[in-house]
Amino acid sequence: MDAMTLLHERSSMGKLTGPPPGPEQLEAIYRAALRAPDHKELRPWRFIEFSGEGLTRLGELFAEAEFREDPHSEDATLDAARKKPLRAPMIIAVIARVTPDVPKVPKIEQVISAGCAAHGIMLAAHALGLGAMWRSGKYAFDPTVRKGLGLGEDDEIVAFLYLGQLAGRHKPLAEHRIDDFLEHWS
Ligand SMILES: Cc1cc2nc3c(=O)[nH]c(=O)nc-3n(C[C@H](O)[C@H](O)[C@H](O)COP(=O)(O)O)c2cc1C
Repeated sequence: MDAMTLLHERSSMGKLTGPPPGPEQLEAIYRAALRAPDHKELRPWRFIEFSGEGLTRLGELFAEAEFREDPHSEDATLDAARKKPLRAPMIIAVIARVTPDVPKVPKIEQVISAGCAAHGIMLAAHALGLGAMWRSGKYAFDPTVRKGLGLGEDDEIVAFLYLGQLAGRHKPLAEHRIDDFLEHWS
């Protein structure tokens, strides 16, 4: 796939199945992530790769978050939280590891850089013929999940990227009119 086709045609896939990406695919994926623009070379990126038992542990963390939020949660609600990570054979959590008080590189720039790293992963996965879906959801902002994943006070969970083999068809690409988003100052 040539680069412009990739940029024009990447799309998400929520229906994913095993096997998870292999070692060579993962190396290509992380190399793409590490090409994210990075002001002052802070490298504000941290990735946690969940597969196998790791997905179950992440699900337990989601259920714990649900329970902390509402100790009267129904079992079905806790079970649903537990099962969320099992929708893919692999999840990569992308975390902005933020260095506070850096002159000229406020937190927002570091979070954007981590977002770019996440998009690098999405693009690389698509180029490799894998399926990928960027999810956040309330757990990305939950204190229990943040603590469980070892986030520092200034860090942010930017994405839970669900990755695997395509188990469905890509939906038609959204039609956007460039002129709806573009102003010219010339
Ligand atoms: C920061 C971020 C968080 C997102 N979180 C979710 C989510 O939790 N659940 C979801 O269904 N889609 C989420 N999305 C949207 C999907 O990843 C996807 O981009 C959207 O469905 C459009 O599909 P497309 O990527 O094929 O255009 C999120 C997107 C971004 C950028």
